[in-house]
Amino acid sequence: MNPLLDKLQPYPFERLKALVADVTPANTYKAISFGIGEPKHPTPQFIKEALIEGLGGLSNYPATAGGEPLRAAIAQWLERRYALPNVNPATEVLPVTGSREALFSFAQAVVDGSKSGARVLCPNPFYQIYEGATLLAGATPYYADSDPARNFAPDYDAVPADVWRDVQLVYLCSPGNPTGAVLSLADWKRLFELSDEYGFVIASDECYSEIYFDEERAPLGGLAAAHQLGRSFERLVVFSSLSKRSNVPGMRSGFVAGDAAILKKFLLYRTYHGCAMSPAVQAASIAAWNDEAHVRLNRSKYLKKFQTVTPMLAEVLDVRLPDAGFYLWAKVDTKTGLSDTEFTRQLLAQYNVAVLPGSYLGRAAHGANPAENYVRIALVADVDECTEGAQRIVQFCQSL
Ligand SMILES: Cc1ncc(COP(=O)(O)O)c(C=O)c1O
Repeated sequence: MNPLLDKLQPYPFERLKALVADVTPANTYKAISFGIGEPKHPTPQFIKEALIEGLGGLSNYPATAGGEPLRAAIAQWLERRYALPNVNPATEVLPVTGSREALFSFAQAVVDGSKSGARVLCPNPFYQIYEGATLLAGATPYYADSDPARNFAPDYDAVPADVWRDVQLVYLCSPGNPTGAVLSLADWKRLFELSDEYGFVIASDECYSEIYFDEERAPLGGLAAAHQLGRSFERLVVFSSLSKRSNVPGMRSGFVAGDAAILKKFLLYRTYHGCAMSPAVQAASIAAWNDEAHVRLNRSKYLKKFQTVTPMLAEVLDVRLPDAGFYLWAKVDTKTGLSDTEFTRQLLAQYNVAVLPGSYLGRAAHGANPAENYVRIALVADVDECTEGAQRIVQFCQSL
């Protein structure tokens, strides 16, 4: 077997399962899970109908590059969403079967693991696929700690020059999972300068870009940042997804967009990898990218939950409204005196509410784990369930 497989870390949910294996949740309460970050709002009917109408396409093999209508719909969506003058659907866009597989396979296509000291920079805490993709590409992750004083952005200037020289790929997540932080134009400017200096590729995971709380302030994306700074998309590829935007995590539909030369090679990789999107899914995806009404409705549901739950939890935990995304990133030890893992165990035992210990999403790479003693609270259930879960967390904290 590939020995690199042994380097993979257990997934955070496996660690959560092990952490609470001996906990018997209080059966006086119905179980509420804030642990897993999976959208739970219903899929819009028109997307299901488009999927059914697209079933005729099942009699053909789809092209890995996707059909022209899907690439056009994605390019037009990017132009509308990010005020971009011209995204070329033939060269600057590729459909992917969910951003997860693309984030993983991208490193396999981009990274030259045969170069000694090959490194990939990952945020810390992070979505664990970046780390696994790095390791299986034969590179070593360098964990750039998120800094609460910088709205959880990593301090890229704190990365030593001899590390930058070996960095081939930088993963970033904006809006971030788990912190919800959105990179500013100044953060992007610095990252682009470093990419120009050291030649690394930027993989910008933007799968939470459509979940935000102020209709006037949609999160900045990488392509928009490049455009606003008067740059081309050179060495920049963004990853987006319908999973959260349109509540279709089971459909497996997203896209990558950006540097045409990189996407050409990535397409070559993907033809071998074998991850073409089903024609039925392509039809449903076109319908979804072409409609914003359902996305606004979806956002309004998250807004209601965050407006209700955040002030309740801010009374008992160190937490505030994130820039975007569907997680609250709450520091627990300051007000409760409990570690993230103890908080998780006791909350489940006494109130049957599951959260995810932050430390499972980060690494102690530079002394301390920057995610330690935070918990991630995914507000994915409906507003009543989220409110009840928050009430139980308040009771729990007040009982300590
Ligand atoms: C940060 C981040 N990126 C990517 C994904 C993958 O999403 P999908 O493959 O459904 O597009 C997730 C899913 O939870 C995520 O949290």
